Parts: sequence; structure tokens; C-alpha cells
Amino acid sequence: MFRILTFNNISVKGLERFPRDHFETSSDIAHPDAIMLRSHKLQESEVADTVLAVGRAGAGVNNIPVEAMSRRGVPVFNAPGANANAVKELTIAGLFLAARNICQAWDFARALEGSDQQINAEVEAGKKRFTGFELPGRTLGVIGLGAIGVEVANAAMALGMKVVGYDPQITVHRAWQLSSQVEQAHSVDELMSRADVVTIHAPLNEATRGLINGSRLAAAHPGLTVLNFARSEVVDEQAILEALDRDHLRAYICDFPSNALKGRGNVIALPHLGASTVESQENCAVMVADQLREYLETGNIRNA
Ligand code: MLT
Repeated sequence: MFRILTFNNISVKGLERFPRDHFETSSDIAHPDAIMLRSHKLQESEVADTVLAVGRAGAGVNNIPVEAMSRRGVPVFNAPGANANAVKELTIAGLFLAARNICQAWDFARALEGSDQQINAEVEAGKKRFTGFELPGRTLGVIGLGAIGVEVANAAMALGMKVVGYDPQITVHRAWQLSSQVEQAHSVDELMSRADVVTIHAPLNEATRGLINGSRLAAAHPGLTVLNFARSEVVDEQAILEALDRDHLRAYICDFPSNALKGRGNVIALPHLGASTVESQENCAVMVADQLREYLETGNIRNA
């Protein structure tokens, strides 16, 4: 019998991949053989000596002490690509929210008071104040051309946008596959200087922490919009706020609320909803459960 300690609400579809006759899954197991989690920030001290593997039902593994696990010979499984459609859809929604000032306009319309005649007069003011921009012909800079970045690039091109991508990890073969549609920038700076909107789809690591900083923002077109559905730490939030204050940045749309971002008219900060769809949670849980099961039963590592 293998015992799997679970954190967070792991989709039932994933848990069902463990046959009951030789797996037990529970959020209350003292000496588990494996751990399966979603967003819980796992401390090394929570990983009992009995643990043989850790599975993250999501793409990023920055909430897991990966180095410590490697030292202990404990593989960490994740679900790359399983949430790509969900994150793409929210990113494209963010693009529309920004381009058409939808949240600000909705706040404005919701607060309108008085007779219908008075409201109509205000509507005229709103039409002027919330004039947006259209997407065809605009350039989207995509930082990170993994599963999510490529889905976002394809959706943006279908909307008529030009796409410039940057990913230092991309293989020559993948770059060649994408080359007819996604022009590759040679650096983040080049991408920033060419884009009207930048969207980040890179993992958080030491190379990407603070990637979007003050000097990169300063080199961007005035009126740039930044979308961040990756990790908050990939941008220097203070630099973002300063660029917004100078009106150099048009809007910052992200998936990470914070006190500093609160109440800002040109910021939309969602509560980390990128992967929060029924389908994505099922896909992630199933992908990770299958890997954990295979590893526990056979020792085979499908993806780590
Ligand atoms: C991910 O890395 O895939 C997301 O952070 C998943 C989640 O929100 O749980």
C-alpha cells in the first residue's frame, strides 16, 4: 500500500488515478510515500524521511524546495502544459481588459447616479475617457516560449497581432518551428523596445527574478502594457509603479494582488486565477498523479 499525503484541493479526477486497493490518499498521513500538492509552500521539514517523490499539480515548482529534494534523491514531478489553455485564456482576457479599459469603465458605469438623462450625459464623458486601442497590427512581446507562451502567441496572431518572442531556453528546433510566425528577439531589451504589450510566461528562478526592471521599462515604448500571469517576482513591482506614475506604462495586468498595487486605476490584479479552471485542475492533477503512480510502482521517471 502506497500512502500519499495531499495538500490543497487536488481534483478528484487526479486522486481517482490511484487505485484504492494499493494507494491511500489523505491530507492526514504521518509517514507518507509521496506528497501531492498545488500551491502549498512546502518546507523541507514537512517532507518526512519516508517520502520518495513529490508531485505538484501545476507548472511552476517554486513552492517546492527542489534543491533539497534533489540532495535527498526525491524527484519532483510537475504538469507542464496541463494548464496552458487556462492561462492563455486569462492572458487574452487581460489583453482585452487592458486594451478597452474594461474594469475602469465598469467601475465608472457602476457608480453612475441620477436620472437616465444625467446618466446618459456621463456616458458621453465615459466614451471619451475610456477610449481604447485595437489589437490588429500591434506588437505583442512574449517572454517565455514554453507551452503557455506559444498558446498565447498563437491566439494573439489569430487576433491580428504581430508577435515577437524571447526565450533563452528554446531549442534550435523549436525556434525553427516557430520562426515563420513568431519573430525571435535576441534579448529582453530588444523585445521590450519593440512591443506595445509585453506578456510574461517564464518560470521564476534566479535568472528571471526582477527580469522586468526599471531600466528595461525605461527602454520600452511609452504606453506599454505589461501582462504578468507568471509569477509576481518576475517583475520589479516598485519599478512598475514608478513607470505607471510617470504614465510611461499604460497598464499592469497581473495575477498577484498586493498592498502596493491596491487602489491603482491602471492596475488589474487578479487572485492567481491563471490555472483556476475545472479543466486545468483536472489536467494538472491527472498528469501528476500518473507520474507519481508510475514512479512509485515501477521506479520509472516520466518527467521530473
Ligand atoms: C502553476 O504553476 O501552474 C500555477 O501556479 C498553478 C496553480 O495556480 O495552482
